[in-house]
Amino acid sequence: MDASALNFTDVSKVYDGAGSAERYALRDVTFDIAPGKTVAIVGRSGSGKSTLLHLAAGIDVPTRGSVAVYGAALNGLGETERTRLRRRDIGFVFQLFHLLPHLTVRDNVALPDLIAGVRERTYRERVAALLERVGLPDRAGDPVAGLSGGEMQRVAICRALLRRPRLLLADEPTGSLDDASGQVVMDLMLQMVAEEGATLVYATHSRELAAMADRTLRLHSGILEAESDASE
Ligand SMILES: Nc1ncnc2c1ncn2[C@@H]1O[C@H](COP(=O)(O)OP(=O)(O)OP(=O)(O)O)[C@@H](O)[C@H]1O
Ligand SMILES: [Mg+2]
Repeated sequence: MDASALNFTDVSKVYDGAGSAERYALRDVTFDIAPGKTVAIVGRSGSGKSTLLHLAAGIDVPTRGSVAVYGAALNGLGETERTRLRRRDIGFVFQLFHLLPHLTVRDNVALPDLIAGVRERTYRERVAALLERVGLPDRAGDPVAGLSGGEMQRVAICRALLRRPRLLLADEPTGSLDDASGQVVMDLMLQMVAEEGATLVYATHSRELAAMADRTLRLHSGILEAESDASE
């Protein structure tokens, strides 16, 4: 088993500011997350939470430092290989769901396989099992547009887990939901990553939702401040 699910070593992300000023979205961030752990990323708006998740997903590349997912350094990979690793190992859940409203619930969950040209009989049972797991088997044939926000996020979680990623990343997955449905979605996501044996890293503004993780990483203006680890 790999020693590390996600490793950041001295990672900085710099954006060009007005004039010649450099703006650090992340500054010398170093941490290591063991496989199977759940980790909450907290910090004020603009502190770098989304930047950290995008670097972890290989959606974006660091200015300096290295990011490794299950031992594979993303920096060393070309665009094509990084995309392949992302599709195989990483699932991503966005705040605003990023679903295709006119497609059915079933097709939204199957989307990564549909795009990859995987045959329907290969993913049919997996999609059905995931929708069963999140309590939406009866909605499989409905267009996503008719669902509530909480239901949409449950569909988005199914889609992110479709290919059994080892690392699930979620950027304020309950940020568009009210407290009650946010709690339901978070509970479900934690249960499902435990069942699948995946590692979960999620950004949240909520103290309650952060407390549900094994560990919290706190960002302040791009700097990793303090850590608490409830499990050790
Ligand atoms: N593409 C970009 N170009 C320039 N600056 C950026 C870009 N993306 C992010 N930033 C800056 O980097 C910093 C961190 O942004 P980030 O989106 O990671 O924060 P966040 O913690 O996710 O905030 P929020 O809680 O509001 O989502 C901010 O100052 C932001 O303005
Ligand atoms: Mg953000």
